[in-house]
Amino acid sequence: MIPIKSKDEIENMREACKVAASVLAAVRTHVREGISTFELDEIARELIAQAGAVSACYNYRVGKRVFPSHTCISVNEEVVHGIASPKRRLQWGDLVALDVTVVLGGFIGDNACTVAVGEPDEVGARLLKATEEALYAGIRAARGGNRVGDVSQAIQRHVEDRGFAIVREFVGHGVGRQMHEEPQIPNFGRKGSGPKLRAGMTLAIEPMVNAGRHEVEVLSDGWTVVTRDRRPSAHFEHTVLITDGEPEILTVPVPHQLSVA
Ligand code: MF3
Ligand code: CO
Ligand code: CO
Repeated sequence: MIPIKSKDEIENMREACKVAASVLAAVRTHVREGISTFELDEIARELIAQAGAVSACYNYRVGKRVFPSHTCISVNEEVVHGIASPKRRLQWGDLVALDVTVVLGGFIGDNACTVAVGEPDEVGARLLKATEEALYAGIRAARGGNRVGDVSQAIQRHVEDRGFAIVREFVGHGVGRQMHEEPQIPNFGRKGSGPKLRAGMTLAIEPMVNAGRHEVEVLSDGWTVVTRDRRPSAHFEHTVLITDGEPEILTVPVPHQLSVA
């Protein structure tokens, strides 16, 4: 069953998503040469607390593995679920994927973006652009009455037309009281396939796109997903509300809501 959110639940989702987006918007302004991913995660931790929310990632469990950071920070060949580390200092040209997921009032907001440290190289610039555009192509297809496969195909088409590869093992998802609800939203698939989208569904759409081949593997830390060929990857994500018309992006920041010294 795919949850349909009530008016009240949608209001709660809006608030959680505003916080997730405001934290992401603030953290990304701190991405610069020399800062460590741990320092970025600490900034996020403070901002999330300031907003009265809680990280949905910190202490997130899968089996007996426990996620140790407040955000996922995935650099270059890291695709998703990167763990913040004081030893990982950002260098000029790095591609840094920031994924901020918070709980507020029992509901979850989930969003991500990828930014370059300074200037990306030419492939990096094209990869970031293609991945962000693919997210918006997916969102445009996420209308009530359409199917999940319409979103999947729109994303896949945009990415593959530009010569990049879609990650298969990780997908978008329904989001609400749980970080991962039905339905799964693959970033590849056939138009007209899969469950029908209905007003009141809240979905995290999140293309993960590799510059080289699509295959990924998980590092020995049990979390960090990397490309098998170690070429770079990018990730963009929004939480959206399905309506009878245009989808509504819920993860929109409130300007200047949050800042740290
Ligand atoms: N925010 C991620 C997603 O987009 C999931 C984070 S998993 C965690 O689905 F382990 F980092 F918490
Ligand atoms: Co996310
Ligand atoms: Co997500």
